[in-house]
Amino acid sequence: MHKNEKIGYDRREFLKGGTAIAAATAAGVLSPTGIALAQQAKLRVGLMLPYTGTYTPLGVAITNGFKLAVQERGGKLGGREIEYFVVDDESNPAKAPENTNKLIQRDKVDVVIGTVHSGVALGMAKVVRETGVIWINPNAGADEVTGPLCAPNIFRTSFSNWQNTYALGKVVKQRGHKTAVFITHKYAAGEQMMSSFKDAFEKEGGKLVKELYLPFPQVEFQALLTEIASIKPDAVVAFFSGGAAVKFIKDYQAAGLKGKIPLYGPGFLTDGVLEEVGDAAEGMETTLHYADGLDTKKDKAFRLAYVKAYKLQPDVFAVQGYDAGQLLAAGLDAVKGNVGDKAGMIKGMEAAKIDSPRGAFTLSKAHNPVQDIYLRKVVGKQNKVMSVAAKALADPARGCKA
Ligand code: PHB
Repeated sequence: MHKNEKIGYDRREFLKGGTAIAAATAAGVLSPTGIALAQQAKLRVGLMLPYTGTYTPLGVAITNGFKLAVQERGGKLGGREIEYFVVDDESNPAKAPENTNKLIQRDKVDVVIGTVHSGVALGMAKVVRETGVIWINPNAGADEVTGPLCAPNIFRTSFSNWQNTYALGKVVKQRGHKTAVFITHKYAAGEQMMSSFKDAFEKEGGKLVKELYLPFPQVEFQALLTEIASIKPDAVVAFFSGGAAVKFIKDYQAAGLKGKIPLYGPGFLTDGVLEEVGDAAEGMETTLHYADGLDTKKDKAFRLAYVKAYKLQPDVFAVQGYDAGQLLAAGLDAVKGNVGDKAGMIKGMEAAKIDSPRGAFTLSKAHNPVQDIYLRKVVGKQNKVMSVAAKALADPARGCKA
């Protein structure tokens, strides 16, 4: 491993810019075969994702999706084979700068792919901005990443925390609900999703009567469910994901609230969990930039390939990982695999129209997807698409100066 790293690093240094190669060829140092060999040096891809804790299924789905996009391109991106460097970030924001540095300084990766947890992403953003390494974020919605912390080398293939719950606010009001309670983990993602829901819901004339929080990643929901029962709002909106979502949905039913107070959420609440929650989620409506039953050529092909490769149904997280691979491919194709040409790569990524299973999307100026948000309903084991809740929704990118 160590030896391998050393070799990779030397090659990378050597590859910096086509000019060096041209000069070396002119000087007779490199034969054309030498150039071909040098250009085949493996691309060093860092995966920083949660592989332990409540968000583990998300980290795994993103990894699977990314690798599927690579496999579909014959195991190469921009003509180069891939060498993976993997860090389990444990969804722990305190370790985020150190973990990001492991990939950038120790492993000398060409590009960082990660992560799931918004708090961890905020820690990554600082290091990535300082080093200028290209970062593709395949999930974490922290608004700041494509807001005040936006930068030419920072890209996201998922969503901003603002996007899905902004669309949800209108839906919940349209259902005739005048009051709502929002419940979530207390950290950036939960707070930001709550805030955009409140904005949209109250703009339509609703009232968010209570915000309920518990520390991440705790799942002792009982006391808060008792509080909800005593408040008796017209609707409850929840953001939990992964293992916590499974437990919340089951506890909501066990507390006798299902059928009494309708439960809504951004679709993270019900994606990837339906096999595990039995009938506890049946009928729930959510908003998300992906859904089951989209019935497009691209989505059908993606689902077939994913099931074949992993014997698992894909979810939104798998799609976001897949699209991170597709976006990176667009960047590398633009520079024929020469990562030394960072400006060219960034240009290629900015101009890309990603043929995503969710529907084709482009990136905003702040490098966040401009995308349709679907209204979905849980029917059996599916988050069935019902309609488009918001067409081509762009994050407002407040504070982005890039
Ligand atoms: C986040 O922390 O940004 C986050 C985590 C899990 C999700 C969505 C957003 O499903």
